[in-house]
Amino acid sequence: MKLVRLIANLGYGSRKQVALMFREGRITDPEGDVLYADDKVGHADIRIDGEPLDPPAGLALMLHKPAGYTCSTRDPGRVIYDLLPPRFRLRSPALSPVGRLDRDSTGLLLMTDDGALLHRIIAPKSKLAKVYEAQLASDLRGDEAETFASGTLMLESEKTPLAPVELEIVEPRFARLALTEGRYHQVRRMFAAVGNHVEALHRSRIGGLSLGDLPAGAWRPLDTDDLELLFSSS
Ligand code: URA
Repeated sequence: MKLVRLIANLGYGSRKQVALMFREGRITDPEGDVLYADDKVGHADIRIDGEPLDPPAGLALMLHKPAGYTCSTRDPGRVIYDLLPPRFRLRSPALSPVGRLDRDSTGLLLMTDDGALLHRIIAPKSKLAKVYEAQLASDLRGDEAETFASGTLMLESEKTPLAPVELEIVEPRFARLALTEGRYHQVRRMFAAVGNHVEALHRSRIGGLSLGDLPAGAWRPLDTDDLELLFSSS
C-alpha cells in the first residue's frame, strides 16, 4: 500500500494532509531521515514527528468501559471513542465495538477493525461465554438459577427462548451470570422477567479473557496470547 494511503487510513489526516506532512519533512525513518511518499518502507519503520505510527490495520483492543459512555459514534453524550486516541475514530477500516454494553454498564469491551475476528467472537456458534456481575435492587428468590438454566425463558417481544444461562448467587443481591448469547439488554431484561431490577452491571470476562488490572477508562491492545485466551473456554 502507498505510504500516503497507509498513513491516512490510520486517521492522521486526509490524503492531502498526509501528502503535506511528507512535504514538510515530518515523516521520517527511525534514524530521523526524511521519507518520501513513494519510498517503500514498512509500518514499523515510519515515524511521524519522531513518534512511531499507531498500530496497523488488524487492531484489536480491550477497553474497561466506565458507566455513562455509549457504544456509538453518533451519541451527543460521552462515547467510548472519547476514551481512545482521537485518531482511532478516523481509522479505515473502522474500529468497532464487538457487541455492546449499555450506557450504564461497565467492564470488558472488545473493539476491532478486523471483520473476520469480530464475526468469530459474536457468531452464535462460537458460544463464547460472557460473564456479568449484577447488583440487584431486591434479594434473589432462589429459583432464578433454575429459570435461567431452563432454556425456556422467553423475554418480552422475543420469538425464541433464551439459551440456558448459568447463574451463581454470590450474595442475596449480587449474582454472576455466564451468557452465550447477546440479546438486547439481555441481563436487565432477564432479571425484569423474574421481578427484579439490575442496579449495576459489570462484564468481567469474555471467553477466557478478563480485564486483569486495567483501570476503568483505560484500554490496551490485544496480542496473540490475549486472542488465544479469548477463545479458550477457561
Ligand atoms: N445485558 C444488558 O442488559 N446490558 C448490557 O450492557 C449487557 C448485557
